[in-house]
Amino acid sequence: MSLSNPKSPIPVAILGATGTVGQRFIHLLDGHPWFRVVALTGSARRQGQRYGEAVHWLLSEPLPAWAAEMPLLPTEPGSLNGAALAFSALPSDIAREVEPQLAARGVWVCSNASAYRREPDVPILLPEINAGHTAVLRQQQAHRGWKGGIVTNSNCTSSGLSVVLKALDDAFGLESAFVVSMQAISGAGYPGVASLDIVGNVLPYIGGEEAKVEWEPRKILGAVAPEGIRLADFRISAHTNRVPVVNGHTVVASVALKRAPADPEEAIRALEAYQPPEAARGLPSTPRPVIVVRREPDRPQPRLDALTGGGMTTVVGRVRPDPIWDLKFVAVSHNTVRGAAGGAVYNAELLVAQGWV
Ligand SMILES: NC(=O)c1ccc[n+]([C@@H]2O[C@H](COP(=O)([O-])OP(=O)(O)OC[C@H]3O[C@@H](n4cnc5c(N)ncnc54)[C@H](OP(=O)(O)O)[C@@H]3O)[C@@H](O)[C@H]2O)c1
Repeated sequence: MSLSNPKSPIPVAILGATGTVGQRFIHLLDGHPWFRVVALTGSARRQGQRYGEAVHWLLSEPLPAWAAEMPLLPTEPGSLNGAALAFSALPSDIAREVEPQLAARGVWVCSNASAYRREPDVPILLPEINAGHTAVLRQQQAHRGWKGGIVTNSNCTSSGLSVVLKALDDAFGLESAFVVSMQAISGAGYPGVASLDIVGNVLPYIGGEEAKVEWEPRKILGAVAPEGIRLADFRISAHTNRVPVVNGHTVVASVALKRAPADPEEAIRALEAYQPPEAARGLPSTPRPVIVVRREPDRPQPRLDALTGGGMTTVVGRVRPDPIWDLKFVAVSHNTVRGAAGGAVYNAELLVAQGWV
């Protein structure tokens, strides 16, 4: 498949545009060189309202005037004003219903929802890791009779973690990982967790999250096979926690490797040298660089580091020997940028560059 840039802007829709992730999409698509937003959707209670009236805008960047004036449309296939691509920031149960209807009509859906992540013919795409997983879309279209398709991005904790695991797997071979997350409150959407529950507190349970973090990286680092994506052969044990941080998920991890690095410097060099596959390199949202390693003993921190590389870069620090396994480290990734809207925009760029859209 040949790589190509679009000659004229591609019309796109944002589904669930009023939510935490939907707002990030508005910001990231404002002035995007390839995409022009032609439709914004919300739930039935918002319909007919202008976006600027309906949204409780939470970003520090101003709400763009073009978005404020747009009407909120129903989240239905016939209401997307001819969009060729739909960025889905819908709750999972709504996504499960709507996304296949769009794909059947020829729309390419780049979804943040977990609804289809476990389907073997639906890739969990992180182009800097697995741009080649789009090959499974031929199976998806053939099996399901769709003219378009669905690609998903990962759960917001799996994204930064998977980037680091991929770089370590390439260099040393990954056997297993033990991970503990400290996840920002914006990861729960808006209004999300009640302030009385989270201020000055840590919540040691996020429904469904541990299973996602233990499984998704194995699919992301997996391989395209005749039956769909085949899972990579390593194991993860995850503890996931909600902490009173606004943006940026932190993961602390210990890993067992097939070959232990001679010293932490060898691991740091491998992380810093990591490059995306060729197909994912020159796209507008390609993380530049993919991984930054901080040398200070008290970094990365979500408040200081989550927006590195516009929020698309994974920031790693405290790379050191592990007395039980081989190596341990800390990683910070922006949950609504790399872990959600920015990741989906990067996926859409890959689909365009590879000629799917
Ligand atoms: N937040 C993150 O960091 C993150 C990261 C990765 C993935 N995700 C996933 O991304 C999706 C969106 O998350 P979020 O954090 O943005 O959630 P959110 O803040 O709760 O926003 C949900 C959006 O969906 C709309 N919606 C709700 N019910 C609907 C219905 N019946 N029909 C049509 N639209 C409806 C809401 O519109 P109204 O305003 O009209 O209610 C709102 O625009 C979820 O699947 C989530 O799991 C989130």
